Amino acid sequence: MYLIPHILLLVFVAFVATIQSLVQDFCVADLSLPDGPAGYPCKKSVTENDFVYHGLAAPGNTTNIINAAVTPAFSPQFPGVNGLGLSIARLDLAAGGVIPLHTHPAGSEILVVIQGTICAGFISSFENVIYFKTLNKGDVMVFPQGLLHFQLNSGNGPALGFVSFSSSNPGLQITDFALFKNDFPTELVAKTTFLDVAQIKKLKGVLGGKN
Ligand SMILES: *[C@@H]1O[C@H](CO)[C@@H](O)[C@H](O)[C@H]1NC(C)=O
Repeated sequence: MYLIPHILLLVFVAFVATIQSLVQDFCVADLSLPDGPAGYPCKKSVTENDFVYHGLAAPGNTTNIINAAVTPAFSPQFPGVNGLGLSIARLDLAAGGVIPLHTHPAGSEILVVIQGTICAGFISSFENVIYFKTLNKGDVMVFPQGLLHFQLNSGNGPALGFVSFSSSNPGLQITDFALFKNDFPTELVAKTTFLDVAQIKKLKGVLGGKN
């Protein structure tokens, strides 16, 4: 009479044990193996140091053409975020600095301003509506996944922000770099963007593009 319930209990216990053995708390990236759509494969042995990253403590070097620096803590830099669907980066904008129009193909972004004044915005893919706003210390703005967006220092002093992403490796494609910092033939850039050849050559010269 009690035999069947006992068997069911055993089956249930075995089932729970199987499920628990499948639960994985984390998957620290093994950067020696290639990245895939689901992230990097998991590192075999981990320590507390795998879950801590010091790379955002120091300002990025803003002595460059954009007077700005993006310091990412994505899975290639911070293997502990691999597989968790989130990451973070530091934005340093010197006076006049700009993070030019860009997209993160794999993640939405949320910005919090820590210091200074940042004008930030994005363009919708539906009807290309521009949404932009001037943000001050403590303000937060969200940038939906894949949309073109920018941040620029609209104050007088330096500006600092942190951006978090809904992906451990959101990617970054800067539009001007995609057009003018490679060997995309000038003639094709002109045909596909309607820009003047002179302007394209000028930007290729500035950014290091060829052809
Ligand atoms: C910042 O970058 C510039 C240009 O590459 C370089 O000359 C300078 O030494 C760098 N500064 C620091 C502190 O690394």
